[in-house]
Formats: sequence, C-alpha cells, structure tokens
Amino acid sequence: MFGKLETLPPDPILGVTAAFRRDPDPNKVDLGVGVYRDEYGNTPVPQAVRAAEGALIAEQTTKVYVGPAGNLEFNERIVRLALGPLAGELGSRTATIQTVGGCGALRMGAELLHAAAPDAVVHVSDPTWANHEPLLGNSGITLRRYPYYEPTTRSVAFERMLEHLDRLPGGAVVLLHGCCHNPTGVDLTLEQWGAIADVLEKRGLVPFVDLAYQGFGDDLESDVAGLRLLARRMPTLLLAISCSKNFGLYRERAGAFAIVAENEATARAIATHQARIGRRMYSMPPDHGAAIAARVLGDPALRQAWADELAAMVARMKQLRALLADRLAARRPDLDFSWLTRQKGMFSLLGLEAAAIVALCNEEHVYMPPDGRINLAGVSDANVDRVADAIVRVIGRR
Ligand SMILES: Cc1ncc(COP(=O)(O)O)c(C=O)c1O
Repeated sequence: MFGKLETLPPDPILGVTAAFRRDPDPNKVDLGVGVYRDEYGNTPVPQAVRAAEGALIAEQTTKVYVGPAGNLEFNERIVRLALGPLAGELGSRTATIQTVGGCGALRMGAELLHAAAPDAVVHVSDPTWANHEPLLGNSGITLRRYPYYEPTTRSVAFERMLEHLDRLPGGAVVLLHGCCHNPTGVDLTLEQWGAIADVLEKRGLVPFVDLAYQGFGDDLESDVAGLRLLARRMPTLLLAISCSKNFGLYRERAGAFAIVAENEATARAIATHQARIGRRMYSMPPDHGAAIAARVLGDPALRQAWADELAAMVARMKQLRALLADRLAARRPDLDFSWLTRQKGMFSLLGLEAAAIVALCNEEHVYMPPDGRINLAGVSDANVDRVADAIVRVIGRR
C-alpha cells in the first residue's frame, strides 16, 4: 500500500538541527533552532512553571477527558493575557478553544475559515515563518503574500505593505505576527498598526493575528498593544496563541485559538464549529500544558514570578543582540550592524547571499536555515567572537 510513497526532503529547519548534530566539530554553533536558550545552551523550564506543574501533579485526582473546548479556565486566562481588560468587554463575542500549541491554533483557524468561506484567501507576510504556508494551506484555503520586509533598510516595507492591503478584495484575511516577527525580527509600530486597522476597516479585511511570542519582544503588555488596537476596532478578529516560548511549554503543546466575532450569536455558532473541527481531527485536546499555564496565570505569586523570569529572558536576548552587533562592528567598522539591536524577539535575518549561508554552515560550523535566519538565543558570551569571525569571513561571498 505504501510502497509508492517517495521519501520527502527534510524540513528546512529540522534539517539544520540534524546537520548540526552530525557535525563532530567541538566548536560548532547552532543558530537555527527556534527555541530560547540560556547562556549554557539549555532551554529551561521557568521555575514558576515547574512549581505550577508540581502542585498540579500533587492535586490531580483524575485524567478524565477535559472536553472539546479544553480547559475553560485556561481559555479565559490566556485570552485575557493577550487582550487585557478588553477580554472582558469582548467576552460574549469571543469563542475560544484550547489547541495543540500555536500550530494547532493556526490550523484550527484555517479549518474554520475553510468551513465558513472555502474561497477565502489568507495573505501572509513576505517572508513569513516557514511553517505558515504548509500549516494553513493544507486545510484547503488559498494563500498569497503581501510585502512586509525591506532588506535594504532591514525594516518593514510599510508603504508597500499598506498599498498592497489597500488593493485586496473585501473578506480577504490578513495574517499578522502579533510581535517578534519570525523570521525578520522587524515589528510594526503602534502607529503602523493604527494605519493597518484603517485599511482593514476600509476594505472589509479580516485580521488573523499569530501571537507566538507575547513577552519576548519588550514585555507582556507592550508586545500586544497592536493586537489590542485591532481587537478594539475590528468587527472580526482571529487569534492564534502559543504558550510554547513564553511559558517554556514547547513539548506540552499548549495553545488557544480565539475569534472575536461580530456578535454573540455568531460567536456561539463558531464555538460549535471549533468543537466539531477538533473532534474530527483529534477529539479532545491534551490537558497538562494548558492546566499548568492556567495555574500560573491564576496565582498572583506564580504569575509575578513567571513574568519576572520572562523579563530576564528578554533582557538576555537584547543583551545578546547588542553584543553581537558590537563584535561585528568591531571587525567591520565600515558596516552598520545597529539593525540587530532594533529588531525584536529571537530572530533576525543575516541578509547574506545563499553561498555565504552555505559557507557558514559547511565551512564555519555555524548553523542556520538557508534563508539566513539566526536565533540570537544561540549566541553566548562563550561563542560570540567565533560567530562574529565566521560571519565576517563569509560577508561578500556569492
Ligand atoms: C510565528 C510562529 N507562529 C506559531 C508558532 C507555533 O508554535 P507552537 O506550535 O510550538 O506552539 C511558532 C513556533 O515556532 C512561530 O514561530
């Protein structure tokens, strides 16, 4: 039955991890993988998350199914974390379902769009996270790209983006990264979010916000200012939330998909469709990760401890950005590397030619995917000079 299936090429990002593992060089550096790392190269579980998990295990008396919408306390708290006090005002218009991480949330959103409007087109940024297209497109909806990144200035191609959106037909869906744009690290200013809201309103477009890094850019509040602006103004908004990075819950697959609908009746109908989509794919969501996040958010002391740990991670990432920019500038004072410090979150694009990226991996043993996306959390005091030397050696390679 399966003999005719051909072996597929490796996933571009997971392929980098495999190549890194195979490399025997003791000084190899992995800037490819999309997870946070501390200065020892570990991806820690935040203490507050461990404490919540411990309490949960001690108290849990049953493993009975959580129900199709998942953990309702989690759903309420995670949407409140994203939307703030607005979550209360929009509560009756909101339909939320717990999902299998942020990927599950994106896919749930795509399946729902496909059920509601099979001809709907989702417009994603150019470039966008490598998994957006397969994850959303595989539901059957059509995907297209809008201009987002200007490589010459290493900033948002805002005029082109706005003009493009202003030409889209009503009902088109626009996928926006809530913060810490993956892979470019360039985010919209609040003013730009406002201008986008104007165009979305004017053209009758529907925003779909992918929020995978709340708290990883500046802080838990500033990172969602743009999202909240849209939620306040737009009649309909789709929101995919991931707890992988900010709670360090990666493998527990905790996330949520929420829709703020035009009215309460529509939200109620959407909730039934969300439950049906989940039921048809996997029946019920997993419990553990969402229960942990709900507990952290519901306990003021744990919540504060978690927010403090998150703030420390962000401070470290900002410091690493400054450190790498500094070491590169020391080697090439004729070039500007300050863009590294202006970008947000874990990722930036090196902006080198394909041959230079290949040389970084194969000759310099500094690994990243072929688009040249680096994860700043892979840099450390111990390897920053090696990384800077390697980058400087391949600059100009074609
Ligand atoms: C932009 C973006 N969206 C969504 C996700 C989904 O994350 P997960 O499914 O691990 O929660 C990621 C993870 O890397 C991401 O970078």
